[in-house]
Amino acid sequence: MMKILILNGVNLNLTGKRETAVYGAESLASIEQEITAFAEERGHIAECRQTNLEGELCTAIQEAEGVYDGIILNAGAYSHYSYAIRDAIAAVSVPVVEVHMSNVYAREEFRRTSVLTEVCRGEVLGFGKKSYLLALESFFL
Ligand code: DQA
Repeated sequence: MMKILILNGVNLNLTGKRETAVYGAESLASIEQEITAFAEERGHIAECRQTNLEGELCTAIQEAEGVYDGIILNAGAYSHYSYAIRDAIAAVSVPVVEVHMSNVYAREEFRRTSVLTEVCRGEVLGFGKKSYLLALESFFL
C-alpha cells in the first residue's frame, strides 16, 4: 500500500470557477474526491492538500519525508519561477511528479518553462483532471 500526497498550489482552489475553458468546470473538491477514490480502489491512499502560499508548499514537501511514498505536485504559476519549491523538492528523497491540467506548451511563452521539472521524477500535463490520475498510476504501476 502506498501513501501519496496530492499537493495543489496557488489558484488551484479556484478550479471550476476560473478560466473554465482551460481548466474545466469541475471544482477542486470534486476532483480531489475522484483522486482519493481512484487510489482507494487500487488499495492505496491519496491525501489532498491545497495552499496558495509558496512557503506552505515548501513545508508540506519537507514534512512529506518519511511519511509519504510520493508527491503529486501542481504548483500552479509557482512552477515557472519558484526556486524555493525546487530546492524543497531537491532536499527530500520522496519522489515528486509534476502535474499540470493544461497543456502549458500550447499556451503563453512563460508557461513553457518549469524550474521544477529537473528535480522531479517525471511530469504529466495536458489531460485536465486526468493528469492527476495518470500521475497516480505512475506510482502504482
Ligand atoms: C497550471 C498551469 C500554470 O501555468 C498555471 O499558472 C496554473 C495551473 C495547470 O494545472 O495547467 O495555475 O499549473
